[in-house]
Amino acid sequence: MLFQSVQLRPQRFCLLGLEGIATNIAIALQTHRLFEPRPVGFFQFATCSVFHESEHLADSCLFRGVDLTFEDGKPAVKPLSAITYSQPDPETLYFSAMDDHVLDTPLALLERVFGYHSFRGHQQAIIDTLVGGDDALVLMPTGGGKSLCYQLPALLRPGAGIVISPLIALMQDQVDALHELGVRAGFLNSTLSGAETAATERALLAGEIDLLYVAPERLTQGRTLDLLHQCPIALFAIDEAHCVSQWGHDFRADYLQLGLLRDQFPQVPRIALTATADPRTRREIADRLGLADAQHFVSSFDRPNIQYRITQKQNARQQLLRFLRDEHPGDAGIVYCLSRNKVDTTAAWLQQQGFNALPYHAGLPADTRRHHQQRFLREDGIIMVATIAFGMGIDKPDVRFVAHLDLPKSVEGYYQETGRAGRDGDAATAWLAYGIEDVIKLRQMLEGSSGSEEHKRSERHKLDAMLGLCEITSCRRHALLQYFGEDSPAQCGNCDACLNPPTTWDATEAVQKAMSCVYRTGQRFGVNHLIDVLRGGDTEKIRQFGHQHLSTYGIGADLDNGTWRSIFRQLVARGLLRVDVDGFGALHLTDACRPILRGEARIDLRRDARDVTEKRPRSRQQVVLPEEDKPLWEALRRLRRELADEHGVPPYVIFNDRTLLEMVERRPLKENEMLSVTGVGETKLERFGDAFLEVIREHEY
Ligand SMILES: Nc1ncnc2c1ncn2[C@@H]1O[C@H](COP(=O)(O)OP(=O)(O)OP(=O)(O)O)[C@@H](O)[C@H]1O
Ligand SMILES: [Mg+2]
Ligand SMILES: [Zn+2]
Repeated sequence: MLFQSVQLRPQRFCLLGLEGIATNIAIALQTHRLFEPRPVGFFQFATCSVFHESEHLADSCLFRGVDLTFEDGKPAVKPLSAITYSQPDPETLYFSAMDDHVLDTPLALLERVFGYHSFRGHQQAIIDTLVGGDDALVLMPTGGGKSLCYQLPALLRPGAGIVISPLIALMQDQVDALHELGVRAGFLNSTLSGAETAATERALLAGEIDLLYVAPERLTQGRTLDLLHQCPIALFAIDEAHCVSQWGHDFRADYLQLGLLRDQFPQVPRIALTATADPRTRREIADRLGLADAQHFVSSFDRPNIQYRITQKQNARQQLLRFLRDEHPGDAGIVYCLSRNKVDTTAAWLQQQGFNALPYHAGLPADTRRHHQQRFLREDGIIMVATIAFGMGIDKPDVRFVAHLDLPKSVEGYYQETGRAGRDGDAATAWLAYGIEDVIKLRQMLEGSSGSEEHKRSERHKLDAMLGLCEITSCRRHALLQYFGEDSPAQCGNCDACLNPPTTWDATEAVQKAMSCVYRTGQRFGVNHLIDVLRGGDTEKIRQFGHQHLSTYGIGADLDNGTWRSIFRQLVARGLLRVDVDGFGALHLTDACRPILRGEARIDLRRDARDVTEKRPRSRQQVVLPEEDKPLWEALRRLRRELADEHGVPPYVIFNDRTLLEMVERRPLKENEMLSVTGVGETKLERFGDAFLEVIREHEY
């Protein structure tokens, strides 16, 4: 099948000139005849060859206003009288939505729009895949740069890129950030009024939107699908694609329906993206979204700038306080707690200690949640105390720490939550304090939950893996990456185990004592009572049950309370002791105890180290900058804040810290020098360049 006519829409080509484009299209069409014409691949082909040949062809302007028409399979070029917008039909090559970016290479566009000088990791290959009309499945860690993988192709391909994201609360921010870059973006979700929705839909139909963010439940409505069938679509991007996984904690039922995109829009390339690394989720995504033919792009999941530290709870609040005061004064960060109640009390307590802390959990009114999230994004140095309801999609680049006051339920969860730190690539800390209470609580929650046996088994595996990560004595990062099937050096040099290698001790005898105490007391008691018995305590409970007469009474007086807790914790973590489901935390022996009780196996346990508090102030402005640069740095930050307020966006949307720092270091004085600063693209230069240049000039040495 050959295309019958080609239509251009002149006002969209203003920047690079209609002539150049027409030339390219003409040449492209001629070349095209060498191929088997593919209706699906046509744009792809046209766009690609325009890329590759644009350098020489753009200048040779042959036509003023053209109408390219196929006659007998040959492109015929005619002068153009009136160009009208018409619906795409299979015979018409539809260039109306192709805008001025069409002559850009991906790299040129990256420079011009985003102000970045090079691609990261697989970005280029992913972009090429989509521009070429093929599907992609992208696994890239948090902050790895997934957004560009669909934003650039959406600009490069004709039509609007449709981004499906569950993060309704963040869509406005994402769209605002794109507007600051000069990208025409919009969104459709339940927060819009009827009039706003209608305006966005009109803009889409008129070809005035390059990127449209849509909530999944909105996308699958008949009305939205009808709308999308009426306009050219560049691609579908399914962000946070792990939401399709029923086992994951972010499951969204609406994601299950997204498979319909393949059936309804077979010609539109699709890209699914996630920061969840495990192979099972990846298979699920490919299955359920109908991405069997998608190319997979799996990046390394290492986040080298994050320091992983896992420590044992002694006095968790005091430990947290020391961590915040010594290592992260004035920094923005997230403190994760398991329950809403603990979120509230911890936030209140941190406020009393003089920190700028805010609570966030699903039990707060929507308004409060939104307000707290806004403050976290827009103000400096806010500590968000939150349940895991908070964090997905938060693209604040300068979160300097993530602290866990409770044990995450899985390694996936731990990795996701900690991954929110240090998206800007600068040093950040992931700090976790846990104790035997956590292990017991999580085990009980799991066993007492109403899920199927299969579900519980899978949850049990996940928790065991998390406990394994906590208890290992070797490099945390190595173990973490290994969990995701990734190989890495045995030692990373940036985790607590590498910085302060823990020691082990032969705990066989102590473990035998602990186990026989569990047995002698009838496997009916929790850890506190067991320790009292072992250490020969004099409590009412002991007298009540006559436990002072047991053979194990007082046989563990040589070890202190903390050591016994550490022993029990490790025994539970290793599955040697099992926790009762009844809610009282009674410990049982498991079959695995036998060889140890019989003296046939030796057991080494981790000797809990004190937390390595690294006494190094982290705030870059205090460390990296020489004294004489500080006034400029502060002045640039002030200006950024003013502009952010004026535009109603978070400061990093204007420019991030990296960009400001580069301005301080390079002190650009002219526009073209400014343009070479990372993060300064054409639109931002136009909007903010003068203001920043003026401040820099004022601070000339
Ligand atoms: N090639 C690049 N050069 C410089 N900066 C980049 C590049 N690609 C992405 N970035 C920046 O990296 C940051 C993170 O990118 P992005 O928001 O796309 O991450 P993400 O992979 O979507 O993470 P998450 O899983 O948290 O959503 C952004 O500030 C982005 O502008
Ligand atoms: Mg993202
Ligand atoms: Zn390490």
